[in-house]
Amino acid sequence: MHCPALPEGFDFTDPDLLHHRVPLPEFAELRRTEPVRWIAQRHGAAGFADAGYWAVTRHADVRYVSARPELFSSFLNTAVIRFGERIERETIDMQRLILLNMDPPEHTRVRQIVQRGFTPRSIRALEDRLRARAEAIVGAVRDRSEPFDFVTEVACELPLQAIAELIGVPQEDRGKIFDWSNRMIAYDDPEYAVTEDAGARSAAEIIAYAMNMAAERKQCPARDIVTTLVAAEDEGNLNSDEFGFFVLMLAVAGNETTRNAITHGMHAFLTHPGQWDLFKRQRPATTAEEIVRWATPVNSFQRTATEDTELGGARIRKGDRVGLFYASANHDPAVFTDPETFDITRDPNPHLGFGGGGPHYCLGKSLAVLEIRLIFDAIADAMPDLRLVAAPRRLRSAWINGVKELRVAAG
Ligand code: HEM
Repeated sequence: MHCPALPEGFDFTDPDLLHHRVPLPEFAELRRTEPVRWIAQRHGAAGFADAGYWAVTRHADVRYVSARPELFSSFLNTAVIRFGERIERETIDMQRLILLNMDPPEHTRVRQIVQRGFTPRSIRALEDRLRARAEAIVGAVRDRSEPFDFVTEVACELPLQAIAELIGVPQEDRGKIFDWSNRMIAYDDPEYAVTEDAGARSAAEIIAYAMNMAAERKQCPARDIVTTLVAAEDEGNLNSDEFGFFVLMLAVAGNETTRNAITHGMHAFLTHPGQWDLFKRQRPATTAEEIVRWATPVNSFQRTATEDTELGGARIRKGDRVGLFYASANHDPAVFTDPETFDITRDPNPHLGFGGGGPHYCLGKSLAVLEIRLIFDAIADAMPDLRLVAAPRRLRSAWINGVKELRVAAG
């Protein structure tokens, strides 16, 4: 079956597409007519003759794939991960140390360890300090008489501060960690002018910094998360390499995602004043989840089939890549009533913005939800009359639904 409504050569992972819009009409068409469809990739995975992937667009199918790592591997993705135009052996080997790229049983072992850093208790323990940060971030712009960029002035800082608080990066080192983290992301957007080399160098700096932290805590244990994760180098802990890559992952996974959730959330409120009024009056506990559904900062992730199988009427071959389109799942009318409506009281809200519920389900979800709540509380208290000055300028990216500039004015 072929879906005629999709133009020839249409690719959901083309950075020029997400640069302008989320392809919601095309997702809707596929969900109706060909929910698992082969897409020839126009860019990316350079050097792979068979570059292409199955686009999985229905909520139920994204959940199905996410829950079956034995059939849809994350580890095998590393063989086709694109790093600029070249794929180097060394890069691929390094990528395999990243939690997101592991399969069970290795993934289960590492995840069980790192989860100790994300217990409800450790996240709650951050709340007061993060609230003070959120209030300070908003306090710094509340009296501006000129319009300012919400992304750089408000949305960027809290996610980085949260990660730094979580792993206990001292105040004096945060500036360089923030620089490295920001340089690693968004290399598909030429406006950031981040070369592949600069991105890789920043990644190496973060890993070296974290490995150094691990070495210090082994010498001198403290009552912090780094000590909990690396204390003694045995089966039950991370070794220094693993810890280095774990921190690298946090700097990528917890940074741009949350920044975009906050920015899209603000834009949604500014364009839905009724929802902003409701938020200011009632602060519904369901708000952050609806922002993540509505925004879906991670447009898609991939898996690779480990054997021939069938899904949604498609015959998938061993080795084929499968793209999980969370943005499509989050607008699936089979699951969400009025999916195009931004409704901060939506409950239940079984969105897949944090993943499809399998073993890789977002480790930082509670932290992200906390950050979103704290920043919007601070904005509602200090800048209840924020105004939109210009349409958002979107990020050029193959898989992040991002905004790089949102000009607003206080009052
Ligand atoms: C994984 C989204 C914030 C850490 C993921 C996945 C998604 C996601 C879609 C993949 C799930 C899968 O493959 O099934 C988001 C969004 C966020 C956010 C939308 C913000 C609104 C964070 C934060 C952190 C974090 C704040 C930590 C500081 C991680 C980690 C993984 C992950 C470590 C990998 C888990 C694994 O492979 O086992 N996230 N995330 N995320 N996220 Fe998040």
